Amino acid sequence: MENIHEIAPAEGKLGVLIVGLNGAVSTTFVAGVLNIVHGYGKAVGSLTQLATIRIGERNKNNFPFIKDFISLTAPKDLVIGGWDIRMGNCYDAAKEAQVLQDKDLDSVAKELESIESMRGVFDSYYVKRLKGTFIKDGKNKYELMNQIRQDIRDFKSQNHLGRVVVVWCASTEIYISQSEVHQSLQNFEKGMKENNIDIAPSMLYAYAAITEGIPFINGAPNLTTDIPALIEFSEKQGVPVAGKDFKTGQTLIKTVIAPMLKARMLGLNGWFSTNILGNRDGKVLDDPESFKTKEVSKLSVLDFILQPDLYPGLYAHYYHQVRINYYPPRGDNKEGWDNIDIFGWMGYPMQLKINFLCRDSILAAPIVLDLILFMDLAYRAGFNGTQDWLSFYFKSPMHTADVVPEHDLFIQLMKLKNTLRVMKGEIPISHLENEDQIVARDLDHMIA
Ligand SMILES: NC(=O)c1ccc[n+]([C@@H]2O[C@H](COP(=O)([O-])OP(=O)(O)OC[C@H]3O[C@@H](n4cnc5c(N)ncnc54)[C@H](O)[C@@H]3O)[C@@H](O)[C@H]2O)c1
Repeated sequence: MENIHEIAPAEGKLGVLIVGLNGAVSTTFVAGVLNIVHGYGKAVGSLTQLATIRIGERNKNNFPFIKDFISLTAPKDLVIGGWDIRMGNCYDAAKEAQVLQDKDLDSVAKELESIESMRGVFDSYYVKRLKGTFIKDGKNKYELMNQIRQDIRDFKSQNHLGRVVVVWCASTEIYISQSEVHQSLQNFEKGMKENNIDIAPSMLYAYAAITEGIPFINGAPNLTTDIPALIEFSEKQGVPVAGKDFKTGQTLIKTVIAPMLKARMLGLNGWFSTNILGNRDGKVLDDPESFKTKEVSKLSVLDFILQPDLYPGLYAHYYHQVRINYYPPRGDNKEGWDNIDIFGWMGYPMQLKINFLCRDSILAAPIVLDLILFMDLAYRAGFNGTQDWLSFYFKSPMHTADVVPEHDLFIQLMKLKNTLRVMKGEIPISHLENEDQIVARDLDHMIA
């Protein structure tokens, strides 16, 4: 992390290129931003727009809004574009997605209609349940990647943009294990030219963005940038990358409840999580190979939080199951159930039941906004490679090799806010009284 206190100002417009522009999450995000900019809606769920940050000691009572504390691009300065594998504009796609009501789309219809997708890079080998009807043609993966680079350059020059962020909001690809081709940049570049099967389309978008010096966010659980080759490349190019898999519904709840159980040293016998979901994402995840990618992302959370190796008497033998069932009548309105079998004093059993009737894209849209603005901030601050401090937003956070990933939502929030404080030269908050004196005393002690 270089230039930690020197943050280039958020001048001018910020380009946003979304992969999967015509999807439910993307169109809910785009229509929401336009409504917010016009004052028709509120950015509920967004830290960058609504949250405050405490600065200094508690008795100073200094709680500025994050957006006033640190320089962030305003939503009105976002210029949005992107790719999809289905032709169309954001208005028609948002209508089809059936997340937002007509009134919330008609209020910004002209602007939504003007945002049309570019042809995507797609191969149904990686998403079995979809057919691409609006896709690029190329002799190999390297050539396809270069076409994405050209799209990025054209978008930048046509809109006179200095800065752009790319975000993957496209469908979940099949599960791919790390292989030789992912281990170095050299192997990866050779692999693109040889059409290596372990290089998925999402990796081509990521490579293209990094080559163009553009931050890349992965909102799905696909491997994408979470491979040595692309992490190494992002560090070399001075570009921040973040992922994987937006933390929205059931995992959001899980990463609040599990830390509570551990904090109170309550044991766990079993955690059964199931969902019904009827949107296109549900249809894609109905394919076992795409579901595997999501399942791995969802399952890892509990072990990291509960640390069964440290607490074998409480957590060594719990049974954890996650199911997603495609159920068309519900559309984007997911229903998630959690049955949690816990035990307390003397091993006596108890149960927790959670029924979350949520709206997937309504929970995801503010995360997309925050990540775009924070990744642009990270870029302007000179950060590169994996952005651990944004783990707050992800189910399966990418983390630097020697760092154990943090899943507890409130530790993640503290990490995020402390990073913002440090960026601005403020002391991180430890929630001790007389924080600055304690920090100063400890520093003296350490120096002595
Ligand atoms: N909504 C949530 O709460 C949530 C949470 C975590 C992760 N996600 C992930 O976000 C992604 C989007 O979810 P959604 O509900 O909007 O799904 P969706 O099916 O509505 O949208 C995905 C879009 O991506 C397009 N697409 C697929 N492959 C593409 C490619 N290679 N290039 C360009 N476009 C491509 C599809 O045509 C579709 O328009 C999914 O991977 C989902 O798993 C969503």
